[in-house]
Amino acid sequence: MSQTAPDLATALIAENFSRDAPGILHVGGLPLTDLAQNYGTPLFVYDADLLRRAYRALRAAVAGFAEVDYSVKANPNPAVIRVFHEEGAGAEIASGAEFDAALKAGVPPQRILFAGPGKSAADLDRVIGGGIGEIHLENREELFRVATAAERHGTTVRVALRINPGATAQGGAMRMGGKPSPFGFDEEELSEAITAVEGQPRLHLVGLHLFAGTQGLKADTLLGQWAYGLELAAQIAQQTARPLETIDLGGGLGIPYFSGDATLDLEALRAGLPPLIETLRRNPLLAGARVVLEPGRYLAGPAGIYVARVLAVKHSRGSRFVITDGGMHHHLAASGNLGQIVKRDFPVVAVRQGEGATPCTVSGPLCTPLDVLARAAPLPELTEGDLVAVLQSGAYGLTASPTGFLSHPMPAEVLVEGGSARVIRVRGD
Ligand SMILES: Cc1ncc(COP(=O)(O)O)c(C=O)c1O
Repeated sequence: MSQTAPDLATALIAENFSRDAPGILHVGGLPLTDLAQNYGTPLFVYDADLLRRAYRALRAAVAGFAEVDYSVKANPNPAVIRVFHEEGAGAEIASGAEFDAALKAGVPPQRILFAGPGKSAADLDRVIGGGIGEIHLENREELFRVATAAERHGTTVRVALRINPGATAQGGAMRMGGKPSPFGFDEEELSEAITAVEGQPRLHLVGLHLFAGTQGLKADTLLGQWAYGLELAAQIAQQTARPLETIDLGGGLGIPYFSGDATLDLEALRAGLPPLIETLRRNPLLAGARVVLEPGRYLAGPAGIYVARVLAVKHSRGSRFVITDGGMHHHLAASGNLGQIVKRDFPVVAVRQGEGATPCTVSGPLCTPLDVLARAAPLPELTEGDLVAVLQSGAYGLTASPTGFLSHPMPAEVLVEGGSARVIRVRGD
């Protein structure tokens, strides 16, 4: 499916949400107007059913090949992590605080793995002291820092090597690696890195971690990356002459944000797995390994909506500016300032459907021209007090934003589940 805006927004609403007869957008059966009234704006709303639906769909697609864990960085609210954990997910974390969030959500420490290019001694103490399942090593200094921390705790730590794939991984279906990167050991150093880990009595090398990049919308690209990951896994197992226990193929599964973005075809993903499963089966050193995917965006993104209230509608030299109480301080990604080179609009809609639609700029309350939620959103006539909703906002929203900038309060976060809503972050906290 390939959608263009506003069709993308319309398709997303049809798939995930609904509008009642007067045209008010509902989440999990609840009108967003009521949620905004009850909990104030700006507001993040997440639908637990959609979180579960995404998890189940992906798990079903990769059944027999991989298990699906959740990358906490996408949305670290413990209530969100808990939903995925209830579905069976372990957690991938990138800091000590994310470790605590996962524990708070009920994830057992053995089901948590720690990746990230700069793990501090303090964070290592926290997670090793807390009995973390695995630490994924990304550079030499870290390898020794983890070994020293393990020594301090009088324990052995299960580790995997994160690999930055080499130039050979380029081409064909794969767009990955081959570039200088702060993440992981370069593939060219793999053998040396294995020797270095094996020389550390407090480290137990159990696996490989490959994360090739985020927002992958093509099944064949992902399959190519995963196949390459299995080749690297075989190299590690061959050198250690032990069966590998964990093959972490990362996250990176994408969701449509912009006009022209396709939806990841889970059926194509599923259909491409048999050769990978066969590769594992044929190699006795890999056959017993647990293959893990740890996506964030794919699982959490579609379930979230950011709701902002219109403070003013201004016409300036022929352009319409809808100025809202929400902005880049809560939703940097929608403003196009989180790694987007060409600034394109997220799907943004009016909460109350109106007649007609003309393009307008939706801008936030910050004193910077960067604070724009959409540049050409096709919205109906709006006035002070109306609500606008940014779809696809469940991942890399609030906690990927400069919330301290201009000192506005933190927005509330609300989880809708079973026909009712509950606050999972209090406004201002
Ligand atoms: C190691 C690792 N795992 C998982 C993720 C989650 O990525 P995504 O949200 O694209 O699935 C990231 C994102 O940066 C990552 O660095």
